[in-house]
Amino acid sequence: MCGIVGYIGNQEAAPALIGGLRKLEYRGYDSAGIAVMGKNGLKVRKSKGALKFLEEKIAAELAAGDLSGSMGLGHTRWATHGEPSDINSHPHTDVSGKIAVVHNGIIENHAKLRAWLAGQGFRFRSETDTEVVAHLIDFYYKGELLPALISALKRLEGSYALGIISAEDPDHIIAARRESPLVAGLGKGKNLIASDVPALLEHTRDVYYLKDREIAILGRDGIDFYNEEGRPIEKEKFRIEWDAAAAEKAGYEHFMLKEIHEQPKALTDTLRARLRGAGSEPAGTDSGAAGSRSINLEEIGFDSSWAEAGRVVISACGTAWHAGVIGKYAFEHFARIPADVDVASEFRYRNPIYNPRDIFIILSQSGETADTLAAMRMAKKSGARIIAITNVVGSTLAREADLVMYTWAGPEIAVASTKAFTTQLMCLYLIALQFGSLRGVISAAELAAAIEALDKIPSQAERILADKETIQRFASLQFNKSKVFYMGRLFDYAASLESALKLKEISYTHCEAFAAGELKHGPIALVDPSTLVMALCTQTALFDKMVSNIKEVKARGASTAVITWEDADYFNETADSVFRIPRTLDSLSPMLSVIPAQLYAYYISVLRGLDPDKPRNLAKSVTVE
Ligand code: AGP
Repeated sequence: MCGIVGYIGNQEAAPALIGGLRKLEYRGYDSAGIAVMGKNGLKVRKSKGALKFLEEKIAAELAAGDLSGSMGLGHTRWATHGEPSDINSHPHTDVSGKIAVVHNGIIENHAKLRAWLAGQGFRFRSETDTEVVAHLIDFYYKGELLPALISALKRLEGSYALGIISAEDPDHIIAARRESPLVAGLGKGKNLIASDVPALLEHTRDVYYLKDREIAILGRDGIDFYNEEGRPIEKEKFRIEWDAAAAEKAGYEHFMLKEIHEQPKALTDTLRARLRGAGSEPAGTDSGAAGSRSINLEEIGFDSSWAEAGRVVISACGTAWHAGVIGKYAFEHFARIPADVDVASEFRYRNPIYNPRDIFIILSQSGETADTLAAMRMAKKSGARIIAITNVVGSTLAREADLVMYTWAGPEIAVASTKAFTTQLMCLYLIALQFGSLRGVISAAELAAAIEALDKIPSQAERILADKETIQRFASLQFNKSKVFYMGRLFDYAASLESALKLKEISYTHCEAFAAGELKHGPIALVDPSTLVMALCTQTALFDKMVSNIKEVKARGASTAVITWEDADYFNETADSVFRIPRTLDSLSPMLSVIPAQLYAYYISVLRGLDPDKPRNLAKSVTVE
């Protein structure tokens, strides 16, 4: 996610902006910039890379007083559209440079607006979605920012937290929010906006949280609020009692728990930009027009020739590999196309057989994992088409692959991957469904049903998170279990792999996953009264098989828990504990069934006094073999 700061008051803006951006660095970013309104007009300075490069860039001007001014905006960018570069950094301005804009979020209809604005004679300098906002406000600007902004917001689709200043109005900052967080801080002789509380704490602890479709206008002596029609509204002021460290995690104890809770938003962002047609409102709303929607993968260069692919080959490491296993099942299920999947560290040293009509899908949250890059480069040499699914714009994988589909999960700080995993799955399902539709193996009605089910996933994930205390209580009863198995069949087996890794990597529990049908071929030898067996049971056609497997482990003294559909009472007499998740298509279940497992692993880690964000011996990105 990008970071926004705005300052207006009786002190120098530039130092306040840089200081605020420094407090947002933990969010992850790839470039930074500021705009300062001073006696010499509106000045914009921005730079790719760490904040320190921006500070170096402006040091001389600051010392000479050439960047003096008491109003300004700052931004740390996490690229979504357009690689990290000086020109793609924020703030962005209109053509004349009189209006500066900083943005956090995704303007879904940026391409359409860019084409329309270009037709109106506007020239673009960057590849970003944000730049359309600056030109759109300029298009409607008749000397006052509020009406121009209100008109522009009506044209925007997607998510935003916006900070805007104009050289023609040196006494006000205007800000607006839709889905991306934005906080206004009320100080003494100064007022600020920020994406997150840590950037405000040096100046004030009195804050207002903007809600969706609210606007704030900050002067030097106060803040006024409006709705998106421009009507004044009253807002409640809050007093922040957090310390800075707690504020960075938005009040969550660890980044991992924060990122688990960011999954509904991350899934919405990753999904919605890829749906086209009526009813593409925010995910989870009952659009009622789901049948008329289609999947739109044009941004990754998807075309009908993909339907002729003879095979899909997937390679990745760790959690991304688990997503790939689910991807294999998804391509077979929705597209009836052969799909192979292998861990990159095996793939790169095998002597794999390539077919000219292969399509490779390489998954990596960081886009920098050594084995994964090696596998991608090998596949590329075979002449096959390489699609990367990654969370980092401009990463090595993104730059070297033929096509890139980004997960818009925002920076993932915790070593244990959570929101990157579920958004990788969302991308794989979208590609598999598009394949299936193009190959004519799924009907328009089946596609519509799948799209409707995907659209509900974010709100269903929210419901699981709302009941996290159930998992927390269960963990408090189980935290001394030293031997834990996850088992399942089909999509549940693949989700078990990821569930086991979460518990293993952050609680140091010996935990493994196996296909439930394999129980009698070995794992049952390990089952005894000290064992906890977690059974994922969402594959309705195989419930009987799972009941048998659960009975087999219970007979050997194991404690048993099931994760199944909320309307399925199939396991009530079989398992010791049953956790229920909202029903979706059996084939889409891993995006939901993994969430209780993420939470369980997190609570066990905390109960054992460990740091789930920084597990021993592990790195966030394994850039060496
Ligand atoms: C997952 O929780 C682990 N941190 C690890 O397995 C990770 O998924 C793996 O190292 C791959 O990382 P990547 O997605 O950045 O390539």
